[in-house]
Amino acid sequence: MRNVYLVTAFLVVLALSVLGLRGTLFTRPPLDVFPDWAFPSMRNQSKYKHQASSRFFADGRADRPLPPGVVATSYGPAGQPLRNDDVLYTGKDASGAFVARLPASVPVDRKLLERGQQSYTIYCAPCHGALGDGNGITKQYGMGATPTYHDDRLRRIADGDLYNTITHGKNNMLSYADKLKPEERWAVIAYVRALQRAQAGTVADVPEVNKAELGIK
Ligand code: HEC
Repeated sequence: MRNVYLVTAFLVVLALSVLGLRGTLFTRPPLDVFPDWAFPSMRNQSKYKHQASSRFFADGRADRPLPPGVVATSYGPAGQPLRNDDVLYTGKDASGAFVARLPASVPVDRKLLERGQQSYTIYCAPCHGALGDGNGITKQYGMGATPTYHDDRLRRIADGDLYNTITHGKNNMLSYADKLKPEERWAVIAYVRALQRAQAGTVADVPEVNKAELGIK
């Protein structure tokens, strides 16, 4: 009978020690049962953490200043390219004003418009509608505040201003910066311009050969 209690207690301790700590995060390194004294193991090497202090350096900082003349070529652990093209990444020129047109580094061609159409259809059309008239599916569910792109203010608005709206959102509209990369935002803008152009056509835009079939003289 005594063994039943012992075995039960052993099983409880076993279950807890095997399953109980799974997924727990520890900040301190695990206990080394056989520490590797001769060759200190990789996980126990001495190091400084970010912004730590140090008595070794005269200024007391562990972070060292960059040597003079250093030129950055990338940033982040993944070595992303530097964001040193203000127009491309902010939609603003050196004076801080919105640029009127897409940056020179984003040439407008058919491919860009097709990318823009794809992103627009995924991210913007649910509210702004496939035609950009503000009649997306969300209107049927009571979200009536989405504006049409086909008014004079938005026809004349600077491309940089549209970039700013996609990047930071505006009033009720959220930012799409986490869904669209800068180049994709410009592609969407080019497509929004195409939508505006498509809705602002006049008789003069109809080619001569098609005028008759539309009954235009
Ligand atoms: C969830 C619905 C929703 C989605 C999705 C959405 N918008 Fe909007 N958008 C709005 C609303 C609402 C406004 C009006 C904001 C306001 O009150 O000024 C607006 C305004 C705008 C304006 C006018 C800004 C101005 O200067 O007045 C532009 C341009 C615009 N959106 C572009 C886009 C683009 C491009 C996308 C896709 C990347 C997008 N929107 C996605 C709801 C949406």
